[in-house]
Amino acid sequence: MTESTTATATGAADLVTLPKAELHLHIEGTLEPELVFELARRNQVSLPFESVEALRAQHEFEDLQSFLNLYYDCMAVLQTREDFEELGLAYLRRAARDGVRHAEIFFDPQAHTTRGVDINDVIDGLLDALRIAGEESGMTGGLILCVLRDSPVDEALATIESIADRAGDLVGVGLDSAEVGYPPSLFVTVFDRARELGLHVVAHAGEEGPAEYVWEALDLLKVERIDHGIRSLDDDLLVERLRESAMPLTVCPLSNIRLGATTHMAAHPLPQMLEQGLVVTINSDDPAYFGGYVGENFAQLRDTFALSAAQLARLAQNSITGSFASAERKQELLDDVQAWLATAGAGEDN
Ligand code: ADE
Ligand code: ZN
Repeated sequence: MTESTTATATGAADLVTLPKAELHLHIEGTLEPELVFELARRNQVSLPFESVEALRAQHEFEDLQSFLNLYYDCMAVLQTREDFEELGLAYLRRAARDGVRHAEIFFDPQAHTTRGVDINDVIDGLLDALRIAGEESGMTGGLILCVLRDSPVDEALATIESIADRAGDLVGVGLDSAEVGYPPSLFVTVFDRARELGLHVVAHAGEEGPAEYVWEALDLLKVERIDHGIRSLDDDLLVERLRESAMPLTVCPLSNIRLGATTHMAAHPLPQMLEQGLVVTINSDDPAYFGGYVGENFAQLRDTFALSAAQLARLAQNSITGSFASAERKQELLDDVQAWLATAGAGEDN
């Protein structure tokens, strides 16, 4: 990255008006404790937590698995198409307030179908939310079906087959859940099928797992973005490959801190990733659990690393060019970022 790293003149309002795309967001990770309790009451699900406060007190994690345990427990309250619409709309409205103009939303169908929920209710509820948000604020976006890497490969294949006749309602297929011990190479057949259906493909890799998993996601799954990818910095050859191919990395700083991949924001590898010329985007992952939506991720990075308006604009541009939006939509949003930079960057010495 060539932009100046000198102190920033941008304020909180500027960050909110910076047009951005969110590319790494698990809709089930936006389930706020208040909504958990409301849906539990509505759907008569008994919860192992006494109160909203008691649930929020559980938001202390040692690693990815300790988070996933709570994440899967809480989603038991999601049962109907309306539940998924409400969840999706709550996120999209919140994201719009952070300047998100395009959102590509992950969902974990196996975590619902194994509880007896119809995958079509999940998809239709989330599509309802995207349609309403589009009408309300002009937000665009789509859905990325994630398969769970710590569940059987056959189950993942069956999940893809179950949506084959409506693949056009989705944007892509991703790979998530517990990473270590579940390499991308296990899922070649699943990703071959997803690409055959005309879907884009992405995968979590190099979050807790090694750089080798990033190589596998690139070479075997033929992904178009790497989700997280922070461990790529361990491997110079991989960094070169990511830079040369301008592969977008969907980095989630607050998630990395809360799950122990990074001790604190000042230790986050974002500056090194930018220095190495990687196409980094900033995202919130599971914001209800990790202490902030995408605006908070941007704000903490800016405050910690004194990011300039030009650097912030670069991160936003990366999210737009790295998205699966149409060429016209990308151009519209890129023009808006340029307009933002003309104002926000005016007082800076870069
Ligand atoms: N599912 C939800 N959040 C996740 C994360 N950070 N890593 C892997 N799988 C996830
Ligand atoms: Zn994630």
